[in-house]
Amino acid sequence: MPVVAIIGAQWGDEGKGKIVDMLAARARYVVRFSGGDNAGHTVVNPRGEFKLRLTPSGVFYPGVVSVIGNGVAVNLAVLGQEVDELTARGVDTSRLRLSDRAHLIMPYHIILDGLQEEALGAKAIGTTLKGIGPAFADKVARCGIRAGDLLDKAVFRQRLATVLEQKNRLLTMAYGKSPLSLDEIYAQYCVYADRWAPYICDTTALLAGAIARDEAVLLEGAQGTLLDPDFGTYPFGTSSSPTVGNACLGSGIPPRYLSYVLGVYKAYQTRVGGGPMPTELKDETGEKIREIAREYGTVSGRPRRCGWFDAVAARFACRINGFDGIAITRLDVLDSMPVVRICTGYELDGKLITDFPAGVAVLERCRPVYEELPGWREPIGRVRSYKELPLNARKYIRRLEELIGCPAVLISVGQHREQTIVRKQLF
Ligand code: IMP
Repeated sequence: MPVVAIIGAQWGDEGKGKIVDMLAARARYVVRFSGGDNAGHTVVNPRGEFKLRLTPSGVFYPGVVSVIGNGVAVNLAVLGQEVDELTARGVDTSRLRLSDRAHLIMPYHIILDGLQEEALGAKAIGTTLKGIGPAFADKVARCGIRAGDLLDKAVFRQRLATVLEQKNRLLTMAYGKSPLSLDEIYAQYCVYADRWAPYICDTTALLAGAIARDEAVLLEGAQGTLLDPDFGTYPFGTSSSPTVGNACLGSGIPPRYLSYVLGVYKAYQTRVGGGPMPTELKDETGEKIREIAREYGTVSGRPRRCGWFDAVAARFACRINGFDGIAITRLDVLDSMPVVRICTGYELDGKLITDFPAGVAVLERCRPVYEELPGWREPIGRVRSYKELPLNARKYIRRLEELIGCPAVLISVGQHREQTIVRKQLF
């Protein structure tokens, strides 16, 4: 009963796309369970480089069913564009399935995301402006619209009319903007309804069938644990949970069927958007990491903030998710570093702490305490087994394992599928 969850363990952009793409070769189902098109998963395979936002990273394999689960907020325009691009590049997207319970991003969500960020001024979250926060807020406020609502156009129109009345009040009275037209949105979403109806189904039933047949299922996380609404650097985070708890909730797979939870960590730290990041390097080393690793947002193109590996945050992410094993990605980015540093604690008001604090005001005051290890200063992109890694690279990995408290079962040394050291087969 192999059901494997792949979970981002930092602030997103850990290289989950590559890991999922690699593991998907042995899977039957690849399921997105959270986030929306704020995610950007880069996959490099023999067909070239692909930047996926909503489509599960298993789409490139002919035997894989790609599921967008109930926990995802879906922008159907973006999904349409993505599917068209994939089709144009020869990728078969006919096995894509969309949960009838998935919430839809509506035009007012995107407008409100922008207006809310603007109103926050210097205190803005730095969202991707894709309408993610407002869409998930509507889900819990019980005024969202779900993919399944499109299947009955009369019901959909009624629901849209009720919700839009509220949204137009907000847009006109709170923000002084023009109201949106019910007829226009209805007409636009009827076009989406016609296109997507064949893909919309009860994906929980689909996955229950897969589990009953003992077929391998991969749950593909988006974003990272430190952006979680409960456990992340709130309010500087995203609006759906990237943790293993939501892998179940956002797919409808009961926790008892999870067989392995893989945490994905980059060999250093990055963050995009606002919020504290204790190990951020605002110097030439940070710049060097960004340039070597091309650390610019997949979705927004924004430069990512770069820094040394934060083992305090890493251990916390491992505790929250209960990882069985971890993947360390982009180790090759550190190849030319004379020394590598790991943050093993924070200095807070003159005291050493080793637990990740809840409040951002506290985290802002934390200063990283580093341990320094010698670099390996040789290219490792061709290494395919752990014992072939330079001694100092092995020492670095061993220290990360010790500090996180979990074995590194996969080590990625380049962006191509084969540039991976596999120490344990997960399927
Ligand atoms: P939102 O998810 O667009 O609302 O953005 C909220 C915060 O999460 C911002 O700091 C974003 O930069 C961050 N974020 C959202 N999605 C990703 C991602 O896929 N990778 C990294 N950061 C993300």
